[in-house]
Amino acid sequence: MTASMVLQLAPIGPLADALLRDELKAVCLWEQEAGWLEAHGAGVALLATSVRRGCDAAMIAALPNLRAISSWGVGYDTLDVAAAHACGIQVANTPDVLDDCVADLAWGLLIAAARRISAADRYVRAGEWKELGGFPLTTRVSGKRLGILGLGRIGGAIAKRGQGFAMEVRYHGRSPKDVPYGFEPSLTALAEWSDFLVVACGGGPETRHLVSAEVLAALGPRGILVNIGRGSVVDQQALIAALEAGRLGGAGLDVLQGEPGAPAALSSRDDVVISPHVGSATIETREAMERLVVDNLRAFLREGRVLTPVLP
Ligand code: DGY
Repeated sequence: MTASMVLQLAPIGPLADALLRDELKAVCLWEQEAGWLEAHGAGVALLATSVRRGCDAAMIAALPNLRAISSWGVGYDTLDVAAAHACGIQVANTPDVLDDCVADLAWGLLIAAARRISAADRYVRAGEWKELGGFPLTTRVSGKRLGILGLGRIGGAIAKRGQGFAMEVRYHGRSPKDVPYGFEPSLTALAEWSDFLVVACGGGPETRHLVSAEVLAALGPRGILVNIGRGSVVDQQALIAALEAGRLGGAGLDVLQGEPGAPAALSSRDDVVISPHVGSATIETREAMERLVVDNLRAFLREGRVLTPVLP
């Protein structure tokens, strides 16, 4: 008997969940009794998951006839892509459709951190706005220097927006690209040059703590760090220490180590703005991401190839 079942590891979103259930007759693992995988794993051909739920090597081993994994989210740091590829299993994520929304949020955090918008809002709400000019001066955004760590699709969308703010843009990554921005082979040198350093790379062991105490020191007391990539890229203890010592100008963070939740050492500060990992969380983008999860499975069923593969 050939495997043909679609297995869903966790809820993805109302649209994807309905399409998976009604069209692809997906089995929801969380609704099954213990032992289901051992009894039925060999019948599973396609898997739907998300970057939040992930898919590890043990799950892949439990599904010996698996042929494709379709995951919600552009990140795939929680999927064992190497284990999947070693078994000839295609892996798909949901890139492209979220670039603009994540880039928009990066800019929102950058401006909010530089201009202290959250602190200003708290000041007004607390009834402290009793005289004009009472709120402290903040930092100019336009015309400054923008450094980007990771010039992928999202980093590119962030860079493009920098032109509207008359910013010079430079970037650091694995290798230079054919783009109108300067490549900086050293992240520390990029941080030293930058007024704003935006982290736009993915997570995983390769990028863990790339933004180290040394990089933060190079960014300096007037520099602002923005992170819309993964919390793991920033050494969070070093970030807290730099802010507390006045060695960093501020931070705008959509992702944190140990999320959900933020340590008081960050959330209590006026020079830090935090959003709860919502880079792609607009109605339009989340719908597009959910559709793409299903479209990847449809394409595999039709042509034997997912539309947006994660490459080895
Ligand atoms: C992604 O797409 O990887 C986001 O982090 C999901 O929230």
